[in-house]
Amino acid sequence: MSFDASWARSQFPALSEQVNNQPAVFFDGPGGTQVPERVITAISDYLRHSNANTHGAFLTSNRTDAIIEDSRQAMADLLGCGADEIMFGPNMTSLTFGLSRAIGQSLSAGDEIVITRLDHDANVAPWLALRELGIVVNEVDVDVEDCTLDMEDFARKITSKTKLVAVGFASNAVGTINDIPAVVKMAKAVGAMVFVDAVHYAPHAPIDVKALDIDFLACSPYKFFAPHSGTIYGKREHLDRLKPYKVRPAGEDTAGRWETGTKNHEIMAAITAAVDYLAEVGNRDAGTPFATRREALTHAMTAIQAYERSLSDYMIPRLLAIPGLSFYGITDSARFGSRTPTVAIRMAKHTPREVAEALAAKGIFVWDGNYYAVNLTERLGLEELGGMVRIGLVHYNTTAEVDRLIDALTALA
Ligand SMILES: Cc1ncc(COP(=O)(O)O)c(C=O)c1O
Repeated sequence: MSFDASWARSQFPALSEQVNNQPAVFFDGPGGTQVPERVITAISDYLRHSNANTHGAFLTSNRTDAIIEDSRQAMADLLGCGADEIMFGPNMTSLTFGLSRAIGQSLSAGDEIVITRLDHDANVAPWLALRELGIVVNEVDVDVEDCTLDMEDFARKITSKTKLVAVGFASNAVGTINDIPAVVKMAKAVGAMVFVDAVHYAPHAPIDVKALDIDFLACSPYKFFAPHSGTIYGKREHLDRLKPYKVRPAGEDTAGRWETGTKNHEIMAAITAAVDYLAEVGNRDAGTPFATRREALTHAMTAIQAYERSLSDYMIPRLLAIPGLSFYGITDSARFGSRTPTVAIRMAKHTPREVAEALAAKGIFVWDGNYYAVNLTERLGLEELGGMVRIGLVHYNTTAEVDRLIDALTALA
């Protein structure tokens, strides 16, 4: 059945925003997506009916404990792991710094970590910080022609001393999807752990951390239709073995040990609502409800992936036909399975900021700059030139919106 984008759109109240009497076009998904109505309701419902701290003897505290458990199960269903392997925090960056510090304590001077030039700085800086412990951090280069990882360089950078490989699932700047099975295979061959930054990837495709044999995988719920927050899956054996930095008493459950201070209970309630929304996408798309939420989610994300590929098929050739437009990333439609519908461009005679402002005046929301993928903009020689314009689509976007983008860019060209 063809993907029902109009039903999806009807779930997101923000999509009715107008700019100069035209519907706003939200092509800013890689910076944060809009949320369905039920996510907004979940926050206010929590604050109305369950607002309390945890582990108390009374009703609202009991409800809060159950809501926290539910949110761990929701994320576990989305990623294919155990509920006790999911930790939550304010954002991916803070969680990753906490985790890298704990991992650093388990390593020795001379041990090696591999990072990449394609990654967001949140999967770079936390590992570079371990250099102060004498840990050697090696960086994998990118092929500037199509903004993909240089896999031969990857193979060279992984050595018998490598203890951890930190890699993105997909680039938040240019949309490249990395070959995670190949990276895991190379890392496991030398006994190294793999940390995957799936912040950009999570809203675009199904994830199965067990099938991929990933040790840690980070996401930011605000990029997949939930509120601002971060979450990390960690293999149970690592979460139990490593020592988090934590106040006393620290003797909580496997994942809870990794969460410092009082949690964002209302946000966790809303994360469950966002996952339930995605499950409903799956059940509706299939026409009959699945037996489990995990199956519904896998179906939903597969349907979303196929729909988004049709958006890439539609958008990218039209962008490439605009005079004076430079495109960074995969342009060969046969390889669109290796990219998300996030594209990065520049226009001759206009800075990325000027392009973003011209589009904003027409109600089209895009990002300009480096979006913290600083290693990449530096490698492409664009950091001093204002970076790139990033146009990022998700499943609530449409080809009609792409037409408005193409018209606006053509007028600018
Ligand atoms: C690929 C990627 N990784 C990490 C981050 C950082 O996530 P957070 O804002 O949750 O710290 C982002 C945010 O834009 C991102 O796009």
